[in-house]
Amino acid sequence: MYWARQWSKAVTNASSRKGWELFFNHDFAHWYDVQLKHSNYPGALLEMIKRHLSTETSLLDIGAGTGAFAIPMARVANKVTAVEPSLAMAKILLGKMNGQKNIHVVNQYWEDIKADEMGPHDMVLAVNALYRITDIVSALKKMIALSRKHLFIIMSCKSSFYHDIWHAFKKRAYSGPPSFLHLYNVLCQLGIFANIEWVKTKTNHVYADMDQAVNYWQSRLNLGPGKENSLRAYLEKKLVAEHGALFFAEQVSNAVIWVKK
Ligand SMILES: C[S@@+](CC[C@H](N)C(=O)[O-])C[C@H]1O[C@@H](n2cnc3c(N)ncnc32)[C@H](O)[C@@H]1O
Repeated sequence: MYWARQWSKAVTNASSRKGWELFFNHDFAHWYDVQLKHSNYPGALLEMIKRHLSTETSLLDIGAGTGAFAIPMARVANKVTAVEPSLAMAKILLGKMNGQKNIHVVNQYWEDIKADEMGPHDMVLAVNALYRITDIVSALKKMIALSRKHLFIIMSCKSSFYHDIWHAFKKRAYSGPPSFLHLYNVLCQLGIFANIEWVKTKTNHVYADMDQAVNYWQSRLNLGPGKENSLRAYLEKKLVAEHGALFFAEQVSNAVIWVKK
C-alpha cells in the first residue's frame, strides 16, 4: 500500500473538510482560543516538547494557530517562527506576544513556503495542522529538510463528541481525515522510523450560551436550515451549565510522532 495516496484520499474525502474553513473566521478563532484556555491545553504536550528545548533553540511552528505552543515556547527558546495561514488566528497570536520580540509570524500555507527562504530551524513542530495538505510527501520532506535536530508532529484522535453528533445529524458514515497511522506509515515509506508516544489532554467544549453552541455546530456540520430545533434539543442533553457557561468535558488521545536527527 502506498500510504501517501491513502493520506491524500483521506484529505479529499474527509467529512469534516468544510469545517476547516472556520479557522479563517474571526469569531471562530476567538472561540477556539477560549476552548484552549478552558482545557488547560497544551498542558502535558507542551511539557513533553519543552524537554528538548534550550535557550539556544530555534523553533518552526507550522499551523501555530493562536499560539498555544509558539507563545510559551518563545519564553524558553531563542526564536520562534510561527507559520499560520489564517489571519484571524494569527491576529490572536500577535495580540498575545506582549512585547515578546523573538516570534516571527508568517501568514502563509506551509505548502507555499520555499525552503530556502525559510531556512533551517533546530526544531520543527506541527500540531494538528497537516489535515488539509494533499501532497503530504512534499510537505514532510520540507519539514525534514528544515529541521536540524527534532521534528515533532502531533495528531489528535477525534473526540467522541464529534463522532456522536456527526452520526446523529448526518445519517451517513463518518469519513475521518488522515490519522497518525497514515503519517507514521508515510514516514516509514520515506525511510524514517519515528518514535511515537501517547499523551492524553482534556478537551472542554465551552459555549457562552445555547445560541452560540447551536450556531457553531450548524456551521461545523454544514447543516441546512430546519435542523436548528433538533440540534438545540441534542445539545441541551449533552451540555452542562457551569460558571455561567455551557460545558462538555472529555479526554483526547494525542499521538506525538517525533524524530531526532
Ligand atoms: C487545529 S488548529 C491547531 C493550532 C495550534 N497548533 C494548536 O495546537 O492550538 C490548526 C491550525 O493549522 C492551520 N493550518 C491549516 N492548514 C495549514 C497549512 N496547510 N499550513 C499551515 N497551517 C495550516 C490552521 O489555520 C489552524 O490555525
